[in-house]
Amino acid sequence: MFDVEKIRADFPILAREVNGKPLVYLDNGASAQKPHAVIEAVTRAYSMEYANVHRGLHYLSNLATEQYEAVRGIIARFLGATDPEEIVFTTGSTEGINLVSYAWAAPRIGAGDEIVLSVLEHHANIVPWHFLRERNGAVLKWVDCDATGALDAQAVIDAIGPRTKLVAITQMSNVTGSLVDVAAICAAAREKGVPVLVDGSQGAVHMPVDVAAIGCDFYAVTGHKLYGPSGSGAIFIRRERLAEMRPFLGGGDMIREVSREGVIYADPPMKFEAGTPGIVNQIGFGVALEYLMALGMENVAAHERRLGDYAAERLAGLNWLNLQGTAPGKGAIFSFTLQGAAHPHDISTVLDKRGIAVRAGTHCAMPLMQYFGLTATCRASFALYNTESEVDALISALELCHDLFG
Ligand code: ALA
Repeated sequence: MFDVEKIRADFPILAREVNGKPLVYLDNGASAQKPHAVIEAVTRAYSMEYANVHRGLHYLSNLATEQYEAVRGIIARFLGATDPEEIVFTTGSTEGINLVSYAWAAPRIGAGDEIVLSVLEHHANIVPWHFLRERNGAVLKWVDCDATGALDAQAVIDAIGPRTKLVAITQMSNVTGSLVDVAAICAAAREKGVPVLVDGSQGAVHMPVDVAAIGCDFYAVTGHKLYGPSGSGAIFIRRERLAEMRPFLGGGDMIREVSREGVIYADPPMKFEAGTPGIVNQIGFGVALEYLMALGMENVAAHERRLGDYAAERLAGLNWLNLQGTAPGKGAIFSFTLQGAAHPHDISTVLDKRGIAVRAGTHCAMPLMQYFGLTATCRASFALYNTESEVDALISALELCHDLFG
């Protein structure tokens, strides 16, 4: 049984006050808080178990290497990948997607070749493709959502043409919480021989993920949104795609041999992991994923669905609030503006004074903001430790904003 009060006790920061009020943390889309287990694992690693990995023959180096490498298996299990060697460590989704852009896509995409992407994408899944537009002459083919923020998988499939070399698509919008049927897109793209990159930065946080069932070629995740340390993350890369990739960063660890004449690279995944990695960050990330798997991602999803339904109902009762994104089945991420003069930054400042943390701005998704005709929204994004009484606190703080600015 999902006991949210027991879970809250696992997150020390949730007991603190902000501006003299109990913290109501609703900025989980930007970054999630960390449970004791992660904080303790990071402290223990630095206090008693730290050394560099893959290099030493001494006790601590072997211990750190074992712990670090075990995380590959944990990530594979969390994502439903059968082979830990299909997991490349990264600092987060941004690095993962840039890796694919540089190491897989750039050598295969020439002038006039197309990359299909949607208007829901985060800049991390846009800018690396603009690089290829600028440098290789790639054409970005944009697929719009509808006014509710729903993206029709068929519209993405229909956008795949003879010149399409890649589909790069989010599983869940970080602005509206809209879910995308990435499995349907992958199945159709596979028939057309087009690889698919799924940005799982939000999706993997809110529902069980099975990359084998999705059928994607690349699936990027970010550790800090998954209750792990910032600077941790990974990308699943299907074995056939790994074999097609040129190296990205060059340096130690990604080589087997270096001479004056040349280099023999290490096999994947190490071929794509140059230099001393974020050892302790990844160890903490592994602990965060174990924590989530012990709770059960189905249970996390069910809790957030209940909470999201409650928040949607309460927000719908505020007739002076415009909610951006009401797509059916969407995740518990709510972007909104208030009718009247209040700027989202002013709203978030008032909420902050009441101890409520939200994000305001463009949410690293300017094309979606342009599509909605907005310059900014306020965003409340929920996590596994949020409660209905926190929804109530948000609603009464918004009522105060309406009184102040409406
Ligand atoms: N991608 C993060 C967000 O949605 C930073 O806020």
